[in-house]
Amino acid sequence: MKYKINNICCIGAGYVGGPTMAVIADKCPNIQIEVVDINKIRIRQWNEDNFEKLPIFEPGLAEIIKRCRGKNLHFSNFVEEKIKKADMIFISVNTPTKKKGIGAGKASDLKWVEACAREVARNAIGHTIVVEKSTLPVRTAEVIKEILNASQNSSSNESHLCSFDVLSNPEFLSEGTAINDLMYPDRVLIGGENQEAIDSLSEIYSRWVPRNKILETNIWSSELAKLTANAFLAQRISSINSISALCEATGADVREVARAIGSDNRIGSKFLDSGPGFGGSCFKKDILNLVYLAEYFGLNEVANFWESVVKINSWHQKRISEIIVKKLFGTVANKKLVILGFAFKANTNDTRESAAITICKNLLNEGANLVIHDPKVTATQIENDLNINPVNSLGNENSFFNAKAGNWEHSKCINNLEIFNNAYAIVILTEWDEFRALKWTEIVEKMVPPAWVFDSRSIVNTKEVRDAGLSLWRLGDGLGD
Ligand code: NAD
Ligand code: UGA
Repeated sequence: MKYKINNICCIGAGYVGGPTMAVIADKCPNIQIEVVDINKIRIRQWNEDNFEKLPIFEPGLAEIIKRCRGKNLHFSNFVEEKIKKADMIFISVNTPTKKKGIGAGKASDLKWVEACAREVARNAIGHTIVVEKSTLPVRTAEVIKEILNASQNSSSNESHLCSFDVLSNPEFLSEGTAINDLMYPDRVLIGGENQEAIDSLSEIYSRWVPRNKILETNIWSSELAKLTANAFLAQRISSINSISALCEATGADVREVARAIGSDNRIGSKFLDSGPGFGGSCFKKDILNLVYLAEYFGLNEVANFWESVVKINSWHQKRISEIIVKKLFGTVANKKLVILGFAFKANTNDTRESAAITICKNLLNEGANLVIHDPKVTATQIENDLNINPVNSLGNENSFFNAKAGNWEHSKCINNLEIFNNAYAIVILTEWDEFRALKWTEIVEKMVPPAWVFDSRSIVNTKEVRDAGLSLWRLGDGLGD
């Protein structure tokens, strides 16, 4: 026996809610899907006629929105109304780290999840399956159930007669490849107690995901597996980044070390790219959440183990900023540096926890004049992240003696190479394809010698850069300049 699912409501139209529901809508034309959010601007953007202006950039997303929006995929702010109609409700709201109170700096702030549970409890009609899509601490389903059950028991209104099942169905998509990840997931994880509810969700995924990739577990394993997956992935990055520092000290090359260890099937070659430190909205917050849980259960050694993954990441970002200053004769004050890339990884406009924020702030602190270019991140977003107003123009003159310290400006394009005029260094922080094809022989002419390229993503052709007459620093390159 399964519940018949004709109407789905997803609360939260963010990086997960939007793309996930778009793919379900595309694969299940007979299900009506309502994505709701309290953020009016975001919903307006999802309903934009100009598909370039959707709130989230993901390869392949705009095409699906074009196909499904207005047919079986709808975006609105009508939270209550859409909950009433739904047979299944996905909670896909933000779960950031708590900023104050008990567990501040580590525990997840569950106030948005709780608000959703209460909204569902007030408005749901009939039997409703509530699906945790957000990443949550273990045993959150218990809290959600308690809130829902309280409403079930207190309801005296006939039309409001309701019952609930709660499932955990964490999302494993990565930004930049979200649509591909959703279409061809390594696995779909469903944790729950009631087999009929599990089958109902499983049946939806089975329309495009092979049955053997749909894993069923108990609800607590499902919640914990999501935190653990992110912790393991982040741990690999901190591990290889820590080795990059050792490579620089010993004459080894981190790319060669990564290739050598990655050829071992037990280790595997993925997620071994040394970079400027992991960013993104989730790795840090999910590990800190794991740390908080371990501490809560008195497992201090476990907590310390995982916290070191985050500590190495912060240290690594500071280390890169310090290397840049050191190579530029110990000062970047009033020097123009071109920052290429601000997103936390390529193919996304997301800057949450991007290493670029920390590294740019450190360089601004040292008095550098930054010209920042990212193909998808807007000047407003950079301004919000750096919390410093940009200047209109740093000028194309050599500003060594007259520019004010610690300024930044945004540059929309790099094609005419003007951005490089009078720059002392280029710092590559995101691995966008367009940075791979730069014409170094033309760029070097525009810069102040001895000019540097700092490649934190290992994307430049080292021979071309050096042959052009530029000094090159690459992460984990023990034999570098
Ligand atoms: P997001 O901030 O992009 O989107 C969350 C949305 O929820 C926002 O638009 C917000 O306005 C809305 N919202 C909050 N409270 C609401 C309420 N009570 N009613 C209606 N709308 C409400 O967040 P995201 O990146 O989509 O992440 C959502 C969850 O998914 C988080 O728990 C995150 O850890 C997890 N996750 C994220 C990713 C990712 O790649 N971003 C991947 C896997 C899992
Ligand atoms: C990550 C996970 O990969 C997803 O499975 C998970 O669903 C998601 O978090 C989440 O829960 O939010 P995401 O943060 O979008 O996805 O991107 P990743 O590709 O994992 O990259 C995270 C960070 O690690 C980026 O800053 C990236 O540049 C960095 N990274 C990644 C490296 O430095 N080296 C690598 O080899 C891989």
